[in-house]
Amino acid sequence: MKKFWLIFIIVFALALTACGSAKTEEKVEETATEQTSEGTQESTIEKEFTKEQLKEFNGKEGKAAYIAVDGVVYDVTGVPQWKDGGHNGFEAGNDLTKEINEVSPHGVSKLKDLTVVGKLVD
Ligand code: HEM
Repeated sequence: MKKFWLIFIIVFALALTACGSAKTEEKVEETATEQTSEGTQESTIEKEFTKEQLKEFNGKEGKAAYIAVDGVVYDVTGVPQWKDGGHNGFEAGNDLTKEINEVSPHGVSKLKDLTVVGKLVD
């Protein structure tokens, strides 16, 4: 009978330890997820492009198409009017502030539904 109680106590103690460590693992995972999502947010909001870097996003050969207006960089990838990075003779990968205000019939009104990807820096 003594043996039975001894085994019972050992099994009980082992079960308690297992539960405890499982909970700790859960907590670590939660923290890791929080950190990742914070990191992702930061990188999308704070992305900076020089004119040279912006040039890479010309919408050609499967690349993304970005345009800059008033220091803000917008994503026009997938916008039908900007197929392959071109629109009425204008090319993605450029600062088109002057052109959208002075040449286009629509002005900046078309920008409001676009995704902002960052800002243009010197
Ligand atoms: C960023 C600089 C931009 C420039 C310089 C520009 C220039 C122009 C020009 C010159 C036209 C007139 C074409 C014609 O003679 O018929 C035009 C029309 C048009 N553009 Fe743009 N565009 C720009 C951005 C955009 C963007 C970001 C969009 C959409 C997201 C867009 C959508 C359109 C549409 C739908 C038309 C047809 C007319 C209208 O709805 O007003 N454009 N654009």
